[in-house]
Amino acid sequence: MNVSPQNGGAIVDPDDIGHNETDNPSFNDLIAHRMSRRGLFGLGLGTAGAALLQACGGGGSGGGGLPAFPPVAAPAPAPAPAPAPAPAPAPAVAKLEFEPVAKSLADVVTVPAGYTASVLYRLGDPIATGVAAYANDGTDPAATFDRRAGDHHDGMTFFGIDAANKWSPTEASRGLLAMNHEAITPLFLHPTGQTIVGTGAAATRTVADEVLREFYAHGVSVVEVAKSGSTWSYKQDSTFNRRIHTLTEMNFSGPAARSDLLKTKYSTDGSKVRGTVNNCANGSTPWGTYLTCEENWAGYFRRIVATDNPNRSAKEIASFARYGVADTGRELWATVTPDTVDDLYGRWNTQVTGASATADYRNAANTYGWVVEIDPFAPTSIPRKRTALGRFGHEGACLGRVIAGKPLVWYMGDDSRNEYIYKFVSTRNWDPADATGGIAAGDKYLDDGRLYVARFNADGTGNWLEIKLGVNGITSGNVAYAFTDAADVLVNTRLAADAAGATKMDRPEWTAVNPVTGEVYVTLTNTNAASRPIAATDAANPRFYNDPKGAAATAQTGNPNGHVVRFADAGGDASALTFTWDVYLFGARATASPDINISQLAAENDFSSPDGMWFSQASSGLLWLQTDDGAYTDVTNCMMLAALPGKVGDGGAKTITNASGATTRTQGTFVGKVPGTDQLRRFLVGPKDCEITGIAESGDGRALFVNIQHPGETTPAANIANPALFGSHWPQGGTARPRSATVVITRNDGGKIGSVNTGV
Ligand code: FEO
Ligand code: CA
Ligand code: CA
Ligand code: CA
Repeated sequence: MNVSPQNGGAIVDPDDIGHNETDNPSFNDLIAHRMSRRGLFGLGLGTAGAALLQACGGGGSGGGGLPAFPPVAAPAPAPAPAPAPAPAPAPAVAKLEFEPVAKSLADVVTVPAGYTASVLYRLGDPIATGVAAYANDGTDPAATFDRRAGDHHDGMTFFGIDAANKWSPTEASRGLLAMNHEAITPLFLHPTGQTIVGTGAAATRTVADEVLREFYAHGVSVVEVAKSGSTWSYKQDSTFNRRIHTLTEMNFSGPAARSDLLKTKYSTDGSKVRGTVNNCANGSTPWGTYLTCEENWAGYFRRIVATDNPNRSAKEIASFARYGVADTGRELWATVTPDTVDDLYGRWNTQVTGASATADYRNAANTYGWVVEIDPFAPTSIPRKRTALGRFGHEGACLGRVIAGKPLVWYMGDDSRNEYIYKFVSTRNWDPADATGGIAAGDKYLDDGRLYVARFNADGTGNWLEIKLGVNGITSGNVAYAFTDAADVLVNTRLAADAAGATKMDRPEWTAVNPVTGEVYVTLTNTNAASRPIAATDAANPRFYNDPKGAAATAQTGNPNGHVVRFADAGGDASALTFTWDVYLFGARATASPDINISQLAAENDFSSPDGMWFSQASSGLLWLQTDDGAYTDVTNCMMLAALPGKVGDGGAKTITNASGATTRTQGTFVGKVPGTDQLRRFLVGPKDCEITGIAESGDGRALFVNIQHPGETTPAANIANPALFGSHWPQGGTARPRSATVVITRNDGGKIGSVNTGV
């Protein structure tokens, strides 16, 4: 959350912006119109559902954990009860062995006994020679911020470096951390927060230096880190160190590059753009580059609807409405005057102000919302916005299993309420010779491919619907938006996905791929009753409940605690067009009723609002789950858990009874095997008012890097003069201003993080 000065100091959550209001079919429609197997839900449910999942997901093993799972069978179009499988020998059950961390409201980072968490890289830390240590009182010169750590650390990747300064994925003691700086806590960046004159549409920023500081504090860091003895530190004078921010020049590539929709005064041929912003989660490639994803970019642009709409076409208005480009700009960057050099501020004004699209920034909003590829090993390289992966509120881009001779696949969530889950499948098959190809390999695999959006069917199957002109209703005859060409489809991916009939989800955040099975996990962080009322539950978004907060039992209705859905592409083939799915895990208070606490969470592992999520590459089968929560924060700060999940279909069908006041409604779904505290337990709790997000590990899995985002972020603006009233003082303690930071976690005995007993 942020305190929004232009909004009367109200608390707003920049990770909680926008929602899909389109009239896309919900699951209930699908159930009514496409499903005739009424016996699945309600009467006779248990038997039919269990048999169905056997047929869809392969034989259940009952044990979560490390042994390699058998390939997932392709779903039958009209599943029938399968014959009972022959009894199989019970597999060894893997267990987590660290001591679970208790829930906490303390202003510290807590990890299990035997582990140490050390602060590595904080907001403002200098990453070039000659840059002074961070004063952390708002006085650090704005012009130095392009050589300091940015704010709001988020998604992150560790790139091991060998002695020849080349990428080496197994390197254990030296590497580059590439990480996102999603947003800012402006209150603590400047002497006394943002200087703003006026209110509403008349509000203006009057101190240019403050705005420059904010331009630089967003974006991406590339910073060299190394271990000496058992201690990790970052290298201030490394020639690899780099900041990428809102002023860094980038090129467009892929089908939308050079289209009319991307032309601006800055780039009259639509080939380039300045900067990246609101970089949330991340992704990787098999050739050692970093993917950073632009999430809540829409809110940075100024567009006053009442005065701009008369200058716009109906299609432009539909596009802006679908993406939520309709405000003053949350940081008011476009309001600084004078604006005499390169439209430094006016570029954030996406209204019609000039004679044509190449004379103003009417298309500037179209130049954000992409996945951006960065080569961390080439500090002067120009990042590329890969338009083939679509334009939406990109949370992250998780690479599927890499198999020689097969396409490469990235899974992606669009984080707003009722948005969708996507995947991109490369046209070309993976050639391991390209592993040293650098960003040129990106041109080969990321500029040419097929983009799909997910439809989750009520019978536990799913379909990937292609986002392409001329198919799935994405045509010039589409009523809501008449698509004209490939660029139009990609710039307006959300509208195309609406036309295709994708399934609205409870805010898709991170995607994670199990390297053993290839199965894909997606965090659905939460939603509320206004966006998804009880009548709109569906099989993949099945709960509606109240999670009362605090002593006043303030109502939080909808799905305030979130869940984790997972799916298996048919036949274990990531490019398949069908999948099977279930809900792996439901967030809840341990004390909640069984229809809410469906995963039977206990004191050792209860959580709310899952967000960051990543499978360890060094510890097979180990899943890390992070929270960005505002619902359970009356009891605990945000956290990170370790999990050893099983596989799709290891549980069974279930009917949930939802309640809204006196109204009850049943909803059928498919639920994974209840994990138990040996397969899911809390590993870390963060300081006050933070989000835990971003995770990476050294090549040997013996160092885990975790980001602590925005401690103390809800501190009221009026408290800036009184340090005792700051919401957090982490990590410096005393009366210091709080700082987002990376921590590195090691085991005191030097072992692998997570401590998994495979039982074999
Ligand atoms: Fe930036 Fe969806 O979290
Ligand atoms: Ca956040
Ligand atoms: Ca996130
Ligand atoms: Ca979030």
